Amino acid sequence: MQVMFVAVACQSPLAHGPRMLSASLLENEKMAEGNNQAVANAHPDLQALAGGAAVITGGASGIGFGLAEKAVAQGMHAVLADIEEGAIAAAEARLADAAEAAGVHVFGHVVDVSSEAAVQNLAAAVADRLPGIPLSLLCCNAGVGGGGPVLRARPIDWDFVLGVNVLGVANCIRTFVPKMLESGAPGAVVTTASQDGLCAAQGVYGVSKHACVALTEALFQELHGQLSVHVLCPNVVATNIITSERNRPARFGGPPPHATTGRPNRIAERFKAFGMPPSRCAELVFEAIRTGVFYIMAESEDDPGFVRLEAETRMQAILEGGLPYRPRSEWISNIFDPHAPMPGES
Ligand SMILES: NC(=O)c1ccc[n+]([C@@H]2O[C@H](COP(=O)([O-])OP(=O)(O)OC[C@H]3O[C@@H](n4cnc5c(N)ncnc54)[C@H](O)[C@@H]3O)[C@@H](O)[C@H]2O)c1
Repeated sequence: MQVMFVAVACQSPLAHGPRMLSASLLENEKMAEGNNQAVANAHPDLQALAGGAAVITGGASGIGFGLAEKAVAQGMHAVLADIEEGAIAAAEARLADAAEAAGVHVFGHVVDVSSEAAVQNLAAAVADRLPGIPLSLLCCNAGVGGGGPVLRARPIDWDFVLGVNVLGVANCIRTFVPKMLESGAPGAVVTTASQDGLCAAQGVYGVSKHACVALTEALFQELHGQLSVHVLCPNVVATNIITSERNRPARFGGPPPHATTGRPNRIAERFKAFGMPPSRCAELVFEAIRTGVFYIMAESEDDPGFVRLEAETRMQAILEGGLPYRPRSEWISNIFDPHAPMPGES
């Protein structure tokens, strides 16, 4: 079959000017538009999720804890699925009053999401503790930083970071999504990637977060609107991510010596001092579930528009024959500068 290419000008959703599309590509674009119209990726009435369960991996700390707080406030039972036992107990205690006021259950479960068997145990515990309650929200949020540059990372570093950040997400999706579909109740799946999944990738972490974005895009297309699907891509958030090697499982080499000395980590402190509050990420996630946004670019108010700029810069390079380049932000550079003053220091 002979394909005729006819140049047609149309408005690009990315670039600020018209772009040229061949007729066959335009046909694809129309089909994609049609598909998207048929797919509801939103829950305009968030109340429809109330009374269901929210399973939140990495729910004992940082963004996951923010998501758990918000889920409870929305009338959902919350399962804090995390590898860190002490943090789970503290998080359960912090949520106890809010859970009682909302009339919902909150409980934790120790799990290493990189192990499929452990995720299946988690699912059994959820079914046991919350019988007959549909799963309304799955947040595949557990993640670890690190891994280093691709030139230096050892196979065990790849196994650790991809094991948690990519396979961990896949394990949870494969275990819980069929149960969500079986229940027939309305539901949402949220993965936590990063701004690192939208800009030109850097290091093993960046590779893992690109994979998380891709995995979530694939899931969206496979589900055809049966559940809403969203990927969270935040800028710097005030959490414990910088010290995440504290949770490196033994089969990936265990925590390195520097992770267990208890010595203060200046960059970790700067994340906590300057990063956006995890509760803000959680607000943006629930807003996206309500409105149907897929790519949740969680921008800090101190660095507005930067995640969008990173995504645009990468896409422009792809479309215009450019080279990979990650823009710099003064705000982020300052956070990663161990010699810059902390709040209150001169
Ligand atoms: N903090 C940031 O600036 C930032 C920016 C972009 C994306 N993220 C992503 O946000 C997600 C949440 O991280 P955070 O920033 O809240 O950090 P955090 O360290 O405060 O929270 C991560 C939680 O995940 C848990 N966890 C780690 N490995 C696990 C495993 N194998 N199984 C189960 N639980 C595990 C930890 O115990 C911890 O409670 C991660 O996926 C991270 O990559 C963070």
